[in-house]
Amino acid sequence: MKKIRVGIIGTGFMGRTHTTAYKNVTNIFGDEVVPELVIVADVVEGAAKAFAEKYGYKRWTTDWKKVVSDPEVDLVDISVPNVYHCPIAIEAAKNKKDILCEKPLAMSADEAIEATHIVEEAGVITAMGFNYLRNPIQSYVKELIASGKLGRVVNFRGMFDQDFNNDPEQMHEWRMLKKESASGALGDLASHTISLSQYLVGDISEVCGMTQIIVHERPDPKDPSKMLPVENDDLVQFLFTYENGAMGAIFSNRLASGRKVALGYEIQMTNGCIVYNQERQNEVQIYHHDDDKRERGFKTVLIAPGHGDYGKFYGGAGIGLGYADQKTIEEYHVLKHVAERKPSEINFRFGMKVMQVIDAVLESAATHKWVSIEKVK
Ligand SMILES: NC(=O)c1ccc[n+]([C@@H]2O[C@H](COP(=O)([O-])OP(=O)(O)OC[C@H]3O[C@@H](n4cnc5c(N)ncnc54)[C@H](O)[C@@H]3O)[C@@H](O)[C@H]2O)c1
Repeated sequence: MKKIRVGIIGTGFMGRTHTTAYKNVTNIFGDEVVPELVIVADVVEGAAKAFAEKYGYKRWTTDWKKVVSDPEVDLVDISVPNVYHCPIAIEAAKNKKDILCEKPLAMSADEAIEATHIVEEAGVITAMGFNYLRNPIQSYVKELIASGKLGRVVNFRGMFDQDFNNDPEQMHEWRMLKKESASGALGDLASHTISLSQYLVGDISEVCGMTQIIVHERPDPKDPSKMLPVENDDLVQFLFTYENGAMGAIFSNRLASGRKVALGYEIQMTNGCIVYNQERQNEVQIYHHDDDKRERGFKTVLIAPGHGDYGKFYGGAGIGLGYADQKTIEEYHVLKHVAERKPSEINFRFGMKVMQVIDAVLESAATHKWVSIEKVK
């Protein structure tokens, strides 16, 4: 049994989700790695205090610097708005803390590159909160693609649409401000689709994109009679090519009527096709061109033991996992990487490449030109 002492920064949606996952890790995976909840920070004093009491963190603070310098903390969990990710990560690395950071890694590709170099030089373990990659279905899809049974990937069509902003009375929030979030749907939603594309198919080398704001102002939550400007994209679309020669396209709309968590892809291959939609996260559609001609068609494969970590939850196929389970799997692997001092595949360098794609799409949208992505050492 190895104990990993956790300090978390942020008590919002992600702070709660990560903490619930830490608490669930031993229930599902046993006591190989055991998280100890040491300290929580939030700028809102009442939130930090109530969170510590509710979830059992030993201490609380309003100053994130106290978390990254706390001698009792091994792992710093960054669950705050995007603008704080890299400044916190850099300080954490200076204090030799391992890091789990929510997506997107940074406010820009340059900031992501700088942070990646700093954490790599410090030799700390890093991981990104791309939880959708932790769905055991995705490990299976990755294996299936690598097996070559369906041939080679020629085209990836991805999306992430949600309609949570469709109500015109939906309040303004930090995600709509350039200085706190940088991009809108692109960094918030499409970053997940880019992460799936990168995890399953490979690195992107060139993009051509466009963005649009659909609703230009939102009520100020402090005084709803006043309106605040929406500064970043509600809608983004881009075409791209991979280093391996395949092509792709990604679409994301944070006001897409009827779409709840429509994160998905169609991966077209020379001998088959794979179709996934997060709204049905326990199944994947697979077409195999080698099937008997009279029986060709997409088949639905339900999540099953043998798909990634699914067997740790249930012995039978198709019982199904949820969003919180992805986070439990994520946090288990982060703790294990920290305990074993083994780098994670979904680390800062992975998050940096996603940021390079995001920046290239923004540049392409501004210049109306294709933009290449440079390899970073
Ligand atoms: N992986 C996912 O599926 C997923 C889902 C939602 C959000 N996120 C990411 O998680 C991060 C947090 O998003 P959220 O939805 O939890 O936001 P949120 O608004 O629900 O919570 C943010 C929290 O951070 C606190 N905070 C703000 N500035 C702070 C500071 N300087 N120091 C300490 N605390 C501070 C706020 O008071 C708030 O409690 C974002 O980067 C977002 O992109 C990831």
